[in-house]
Amino acid sequence: MAIHSETIQMDIYQRGDKPAKLLPVSFDEWENQAKEILAAAPFGYVYGAAGAGDTHRANVDAFQNYRIRPRVCCDITKRDLSISMFGTKLPVPFLLAPIGVNTILHPDGELAPAKAAAKLGVPYILSNVSSVSMEQVAEVMGDSVRWFQLYPPKDHELTKSFLKRAEASGFKAIVVTVDSTLLGWRETDLRHAYLPFLTGHGMGNYFSDPIFCSKLEEAPDKNVKAAALKALEEGNNTCFTWRELDFIREHTRLPLLMKGITHPDDAILAMEHGVDGIIVSNHGGRQLDGAVATLDVLPSIRESIQGKIPIIMDSGIRRGADILKAIALGATAVLVGRPYAYAMAVAGELGVEEVIKHLVAETELQLAISGRSSIQDVDQSLLMKVK
Ligand SMILES: Cc1cc2nc3c(=O)[nH]c(=O)nc-3n(C[C@H](O)[C@H](O)[C@H](O)COP(=O)(O)O)c2cc1C
Repeated sequence: MAIHSETIQMDIYQRGDKPAKLLPVSFDEWENQAKEILAAAPFGYVYGAAGAGDTHRANVDAFQNYRIRPRVCCDITKRDLSISMFGTKLPVPFLLAPIGVNTILHPDGELAPAKAAAKLGVPYILSNVSSVSMEQVAEVMGDSVRWFQLYPPKDHELTKSFLKRAEASGFKAIVVTVDSTLLGWRETDLRHAYLPFLTGHGMGNYFSDPIFCSKLEEAPDKNVKAAALKALEEGNNTCFTWRELDFIREHTRLPLLMKGITHPDDAILAMEHGVDGIIVSNHGGRQLDGAVATLDVLPSIRESIQGKIPIIMDSGIRRGADILKAIALGATAVLVGRPYAYAMAVAGELGVEEVIKHLVAETELQLAISGRSSIQDVDQSLLMKVK
C-alpha cells in the first residue's frame, strides 16, 4: 500500500468523532496509554532497561546533540523515502525491530505487528522468542518482506533447524543478535519477579521445533517451565564466538546480518566473517548499562564499513527527525522498537498501523521541509552538531 504524508495527515484531521480519533499521536502518549492499560510487570518488561537505565536514556538524549539545518527554495513536490537492500526495494527507510514475547502485550501476539507491517509494506523482523511460531507469522504475511532474528542456540542441530524453517517460510534475511548471550541486569523485572518465558510466552518457535522437542524429557504441554528453562539455556550461549558465526554463515544462503555491534573493530570483523549487513544496536539499553549510545558510534562505524555493506541502526528511534539524523550519520535504515510495542499494547494491529503511518508521514514531511526530496540526498550536510 502506498502511503503519503499529506494523505495520512488529512485522514487524521478529518476523523471527526470516529474511535480512531482517540488513538495517541506521539511516542509519549503511546507509552502513557500502554502504562494505563497493562499490568505493571508487562509494562515494565518493555519500559525497563539494564541497571540504572543510563544507556536507555543516553540513546534518546544523543539525538539532541544534532540539529537539522534546512535548505530552502528546493522543489519538494515529489518525495521519495525508498531505499534498496539486498536487491529488494523497500518503501521507507525503517523496519520493525525484533521484539519478543508479544502475547504479554496483546492476545494476538506477533500476528499484530506482522499484519500491520504486511498491510503497509514495511519489513518485519520476527524475534526468535516470539510467542507465535514463524510459520504462523509467515501465513498472515503472504509475500510481504520478513526477516528472522536468531538468538544463536548452543545446539548446532537446533540452529540448523531454525535456519531451515525460516528459509522454508519465506523469511528473506537472518539477523543474528550477539549482544544477549546473557540476560542483562534488569531491575524492573527483578522487582516484579517477572520473566514471561517461564510461563510459556515467547516460546512459539521452540515449542514447535521437532529438534528442540526431541531433547526434552517432558513435552512442553506437560511441563512448560522445564521446557522454557531448556530454551533459555540454549539462548544463554556464552561460548558464542566468531567461529560460531561462521557455522551460521555456512548454513544459510540468505543475507546474514549481525545485530548488537557498537565497536568499529567488530564491524570490520563481521565483514571479514562474511556478514551482509550490520545492525548498530545496544538492545535499547536493555543489556549493558553504561554502554555508548548508538547514534554516537554511527560515524565511526560508517568509517570502518566504508559503504561496503548496509548499516542499520536502532535504540532511541522515536520520530521522523531521529530517522533523518541516523541516516545523515551513516545508517542505510533504522529499526523501530518500543514505539510499536506500546502501540500494540494500546490497540493491537491498528495501533501498530498508526505508528507506522505516523512515522512515514513525519519522516517524509521532515525530509521535504529540510529541503530534500529523496532520502538518498540525506547526508552529513543535513546536520549541525550543537553539543
Ligand atoms: C520488550 C522488548 C523485547 C525485545 N526483544 C528482542 C528480541 O527478541 N530480539 C532482539 O534481537 N532484540 C529484542 N529487543 C531489542 C529491539 O530489537 C531493539 O534493539 C530495541 O527495542 C531498540 O531500542 P528502542 O526500542 O528503545 O528504540 C527487544 C526490545 C524490547 C523493548
